[in-house]
Amino acid sequence: MTRLADLVDLPHVRLGAVPTPVRRLELGHRAEVWVKDESAFGDGGWGGNKVRKLEWIIAEAHRRGSTTLLTVGGIGTHWGLACALYGREHGLRTVLGLVDQPLDDHVRDQLRRLEASGAVLHRYRSSNRLRLAAPYLMARYRPWYVPAGGSHPVGALAYVDVALEIADQVAAGALPEPATLVVPVGSGGTVAGLALGLRLAGLDRTRLLGVVVNDLLRLDRPSIARLAGRTGALLARAGLARVPTAVEADLPRDWLGEGYGVPTPAGSAEVARATEAGIPVEPVYTGKALAAVRELDARGELAGPVLWLATHGPR
Ligand SMILES: Cc1ncc(COP(=O)(O)O)c(C=O)c1O
Repeated sequence: MTRLADLVDLPHVRLGAVPTPVRRLELGHRAEVWVKDESAFGDGGWGGNKVRKLEWIIAEAHRRGSTTLLTVGGIGTHWGLACALYGREHGLRTVLGLVDQPLDDHVRDQLRRLEASGAVLHRYRSSNRLRLAAPYLMARYRPWYVPAGGSHPVGALAYVDVALEIADQVAAGALPEPATLVVPVGSGGTVAGLALGLRLAGLDRTRLLGVVVNDLLRLDRPSIARLAGRTGALLARAGLARVPTAVEADLPRDWLGEGYGVPTPAGSAEVARATEAGIPVEPVYTGKALAAVRELDARGELAGPVLWLATHGPR
């Protein structure tokens, strides 16, 4: 298995076993749809795409000599919980700036987990209030600040790594070469890393479809290309030859509904279907990505084989 950590001189800690499993998904689509189950990643109290990013972020925090991570998110943040749980195991304190978001059972459960996680929580009514409090948080905790969702070039390395892993699974015959790779876009690190990684792995025929589920951050082609570019620059400085510069992703916003954190009927229907099929799906990210797969497939606009990344990782 090709791992990015073996190709570049960048700090990395191992937090989960690879490769994550792939299998054919039978949820009534016309196209051939496969799932790569990222929920299986992570040896601790949470799994999924956030833990992948922490393999690089925790190691980088240690390299910088930081003892505290400061990061931000909604009160149901999966990212914040993963930081708190894995950071604690690796000697880091996590401080979270949390912004109110629509409350449902999922968010309530998540907030309870955050309160029990050992992280220091600061709650705000809006992102503006959090922004105003940022200088205070920086002065009080002297942390390394990692942006929402870990979508920093260091965090995006994780999904460069996952693209290499997918290419290995294709080469091993575990999975057909995907014509379309589908992921939700919440803060952009996952899709930016994949955009870069697909080119690096030689999966040039795979079209990347990033279903935007967040309207609170700028998530468009220029912002994703910028993050991918900064990640590529980091890889080049770390000794990787031939880092791709042109990266491509489609970033439709048609499945966002009323906004970040607000479930849509189509997304919720997918949560019910996928849960029945034994795949962990929630309404904020993965349900909306699956709703996009369903609708594009019904319109005959989805080229198969499709690979959908199940990025949610509850424990
Ligand atoms: C379950 C899940 N899937 C996907 C994402 C999106 O990943 P990214 O923030 O890298 O865009 C997130 C978090 O934002 C998430 O919690």
